Amino acid sequence: MSYLTSALLDERGFVVLDRYDQAKDPEEWRDLEYVNWKSSGVTRFAPLASAQGEIEVGGFWNHEPPRPDKDGVWIEFQAAKAPNLVRRAQEPGANVGRCRVIELQPNSYADALYNMHQDDNNRLNPQGSGWVVRGYYNLTDDADSYMVLRKERFDPSTEVRLALPAGAQLIIDTQRIWHATWHAGSQPRYSLITSWESGPALDAYIEKYHGRNDHVNAHLDQSVIAEGQESVQHRLAERAATLAAQGKIDHGPEKSEA
Ligand SMILES: [Fe+2]
Repeated sequence: MSYLTSALLDERGFVVLDRYDQAKDPEEWRDLEYVNWKSSGVTRFAPLASAQGEIEVGGFWNHEPPRPDKDGVWIEFQAAKAPNLVRRAQEPGANVGRCRVIELQPNSYADALYNMHQDDNNRLNPQGSGWVVRGYYNLTDDADSYMVLRKERFDPSTEVRLALPAGAQLIIDTQRIWHATWHAGSQPRYSLITSWESGPALDAYIEKYHGRNDHVNAHLDQSVIAEGQESVQHRLAERAATLAAQGKIDHGPEKSEA
């Protein structure tokens, strides 16, 4: 017994859908209520659907009774301010778990490499059901920023960099693929993140919007990549030394809730 997955996502761990015409919608994310939540980088979150319909962004497994990242409860007053975002999260017809807007402050490529993590979307998800993946829909126009993905955390040859102009629509298997955003802008970046259950509904949605995974990276200078790699190793060594000085063991990166 295993999970129901999407064949296209299985290949490389991501798909890119047709770009959405973001400019035609109002900037609903500016009206939402945000909570401070340290994720990968300097972030805040505006939940639209949460474990119990409250302004809270924790994993559903932290609630009573603990449950997988499915059957998110819409937060009425937030959803009322963002009808287009809710419509887009519901459009696939796949089960929605956590759904929120993330705000990220500008950072560097080296920061993104340091922030890379795998999500924990499938904790408590029963075998035989659909594997939970995530939509990342860019709301602000961040054409010089990238979602950075790696199959192997420290191996740059496995890196995929997906640009984030307004309306970019990505679906990522964030439990399998290491990921973080390199936000090269000067203003915060906003993105709609939705947990969806894989299955025929999500597959049909991916097909409708011409999902593809034949992406080829734009050029990034080898020296930038090498400097980023070095910086990460340096920061990880520092972190381990600090923890050791405190008598703690470094268990490596924590599973992010983002
Ligand atoms: Fe994540």
